[in-house]
Amino acid sequence: MSMFIRKLKHSMLIGLMKTLSGLAPAASYMAFAGSGSSRQLCDHIMRSGAKRVLVVTDAALRELGVVDQATAALTEAGIEVAVYDGVLPNPSFTHVSEGVAMLKQAGSEVVLAIGGGSSIDAGKVIAAAATNADNPQDWIGHGKIKADALPIYAIPTTAGTGSEATMGAVISNPQSGEKSVIAGATLLPSACAIDSDVMLGLPASITAATGMDALTHAIEAYIGIWDSGTRTENARAAISLIFEHLETACSDGTNRSARDAMAMAAYYAGMAINQVNVGNVHAIAHQLGGKYGIPHGLANALVLPHVLEFCREDAQPKLAELATLIGVGEPGASQEQLAYSFIGAVKDLRTAVHIPDKSDQIKAQDYDYLTDLAVAEGGTYPVPRLLDRDSTIAILTSITA
Ligand SMILES: [Fe+2]
Repeated sequence: MSMFIRKLKHSMLIGLMKTLSGLAPAASYMAFAGSGSSRQLCDHIMRSGAKRVLVVTDAALRELGVVDQATAALTEAGIEVAVYDGVLPNPSFTHVSEGVAMLKQAGSEVVLAIGGGSSIDAGKVIAAAATNADNPQDWIGHGKIKADALPIYAIPTTAGTGSEATMGAVISNPQSGEKSVIAGATLLPSACAIDSDVMLGLPASITAATGMDALTHAIEAYIGIWDSGTRTENARAAISLIFEHLETACSDGTNRSARDAMAMAAYYAGMAINQVNVGNVHAIAHQLGGKYGIPHGLANALVLPHVLEFCREDAQPKLAELATLIGVGEPGASQEQLAYSFIGAVKDLRTAVHIPDKSDQIKAQDYDYLTDLAVAEGGTYPVPRLLDRDSTIAILTSITA
């Protein structure tokens, strides 16, 4: 298909998405924030009248005691808490099935997801599968979940995915490893806790990778061609906070103000993508996660500067604004120079938090497969420039060790 036809189809798709989103009810966000807010969220769940709660998490967090700390208020109040702790990175439909089986056995009325994006995404789809008889694999795409999900609550333990603020979930096919997005208004958590208490022990490498994921969300929402809601303010707040605090959160993990700032940044970035979606960085990174299991934040960090260079001309005014926002670039610099300065700052931040610029997991023989999927996925996002095969292969080549 020629690029002209692809651009035409893309602009029609984005126009349709704008129209449909304008008809949908406004998203309702609710967050408890700051030290101790996990407890406040649990009090909120108690006040909702729920008597049985399914916690969805991973085994490592449970062993660390994070889950018990967070749910102490629930158990003390006599609420029955069942725990599904089988979630692994890049959760699959198998995890969803296991969680649903436990939920039904326990008779849980709400889902409380505690963890990174994997646990929150799995928790969302488990909550929807509890009230819908059809196969969750049939929900891939947008708006295919028929009945409302059980109420979903979230306590993110990483400052990255922003899943606590989105109506999307990424679930993998356990056979192919292919990652799929399921989206629907019913998957937006009813409330969440942005509580840095549960993030203080996060290792630097995970802090760095998840922080770069949040940065990617904010930048992709900002440079996308779909202007909606408060995405501009949310994205700018997130980008400022990340450039100011990510390095400290990595070098001094117990620095509470840096952790608080990163937790809020991830939440703001999540709100931004919930209004306008992500872009080409995610379109490529999802394939790297699906094929090689490269952690999502790391995959985004590898790809981000290259995609910004790819779309620099088309997104130049916005990239220049971001340079001004974070205070890089010479006084009197042209828009083009400022855009390059911002891309340079992204690379510098990546280096400062010790994330490599290449991966030896990526194999040249997979470029065609990865490119087909990335180009197709990128065409569904409100990107400033559509990916093409040659440019995508060039990006993959650049990040292959
Ligand atoms: Fe992401």
